[in-house]
Amino acid sequence: MIRTVFRYLCLLTALANAGGNALILLLYRPIFKLVGAPLPADRFAFTGVCALSFTVGIMAFMIYRNPEGSKNLLVGAIGKALYCLATLYFYYLGRIHWFYLTFGIWDGVFATVFMLFLIHLVSPNLVTLYEREVLPGVARPRTRKALVLFYSLSGNGRGAMARVKKGLIGAGYEVDEKRVHAREKVFHFPFKLFEFLQIAVRAIVRIPAEIEPLDITADHPYDLIVVECPTWFVGMAAPMEGVFRDRANHAIFAGRDVAVVNVCRGLWRRTQSMTVSWLEECRANVVAAKAFATPGWEPARTISLFVFLAAGAPKKPPWLGSLLQPPMLGEESLAKLERFGAALAERPVAAEGV
Ligand SMILES: Cc1cc2nc3c(=O)[nH]c(=O)nc-3n(C[C@H](O)[C@H](O)[C@H](O)COP(=O)(O)O)c2cc1C
Repeated sequence: MIRTVFRYLCLLTALANAGGNALILLLYRPIFKLVGAPLPADRFAFTGVCALSFTVGIMAFMIYRNPEGSKNLLVGAIGKALYCLATLYFYYLGRIHWFYLTFGIWDGVFATVFMLFLIHLVSPNLVTLYEREVLPGVARPRTRKALVLFYSLSGNGRGAMARVKKGLIGAGYEVDEKRVHAREKVFHFPFKLFEFLQIAVRAIVRIPAEIEPLDITADHPYDLIVVECPTWFVGMAAPMEGVFRDRANHAIFAGRDVAVVNVCRGLWRRTQSMTVSWLEECRANVVAAKAFATPGWEPARTISLFVFLAAGAPKKPPWLGSLLQPPMLGEESLAKLERFGAALAERPVAAEGV
C-alpha cells in the first residue's frame, strides 16, 4: 500500500517535471505574462534549468517503473532539496518572483517524498514478521538440525540462546551452537574504562568488528538458524555486524530459514531492523524476529546498565542495593524464549513456489 502511494507520487512528479518543463519552454511567454512574472533575464540559463528539471522527471519515471532497481536514483532527492533551498534563499532575498517559489516548494515536498520512499525501500518488512509468531519456512526437506549463532559480551545473549536451544531440543531438534568471537582484544568483558570508550566510539560511528572465521560452509545441514544480536548504542553489536559485513558469510543464510533474537536494556527496534535487513540482503527466509529487554524501571535501568558495565559484575556496588536493576533477562522473558524455540521447531512449511 505505502509502496503504491509512493510510486504514484513519483509518477506525479515525473509528469510535472517532464511534462511541465516541456510546456513551460514552449509557452513561457504567455504563462509568465499570465502570472505577472518578469521574462527570464538569461534565456540560455532558463533553458538549461528547464532541461535539468526535465531529466529529473525522466528519473522519477524510471523510479516509478522499477522502484527496487532505482534506489540509487532516489538519491536524486538531494538535487531537488538543493533546488528548493536555493529558491527559498533567493525568494527571501527578494530576487525572484513568487512563481519560481512554487517550483521550489514542489521540489522540497518531493525531496521529502523521495527520501521517505528510499527509507521504505531499504527497510525490512517487519510488519509481516509481527503478524504471526512464526512465518512459514522454505519448502524443502527438514533435517531438524538447527544452529544458534550469537554474540554475547556479558552473557545475557548466551543465556537467552540457551533457552531457545532448550525449546528447540524439546521439540525434537538437534542444535549446534556457534558463538561469534571478535578478533580484536578490546571486545572482552569485564573491560577497563578506556576499552569501554573504544567500544563505545566505534559503536557510535558503526565500525564493525573483525571476527574469527565461522567455519560454516554454504552446504551446512541446518534447516534453521537462530541469529542473536545485542544492542550496542542503538544498533547491532559490532562483532555481529562483522558477520554480515563479510560477504563470504552471506551464503550461510541464503535460502535458509532464519529467526532473529535481539537482547538489550530497552532499545531493540533499530537493532532488529538492522539484523533483519542484513538477513534479507543475504536472501535468507526470515521466519521470526523477537526482542527482549532486561527488566526494571527507568531511569534506574539505564543507570544500572552503566554501573554494571563499569563494575563488571551484577549487584555491584552492594550499597546501591535495590536501585540496581538486573542486567540479565528475567525468567518471564527466558520462558518466552523457550516457547519461541519450540514454536520455531514447529514452523509451517510454505506452499510450493512461495
Ligand atoms: C557497549 C554497549 C552499548 C550498549 N548500548 C545499548 C543501547 O544503546 N541500548 C540498549 O538498550 N542497550 C544497550 N546496551 C546493553 C546491552 O544491549 C545489553 O546489556 C545486552 O543484554 C548485552 O548482551 P550480552 O550480555 O549478550 O552482551 C549496551 C551494552 C554495551 C556493552
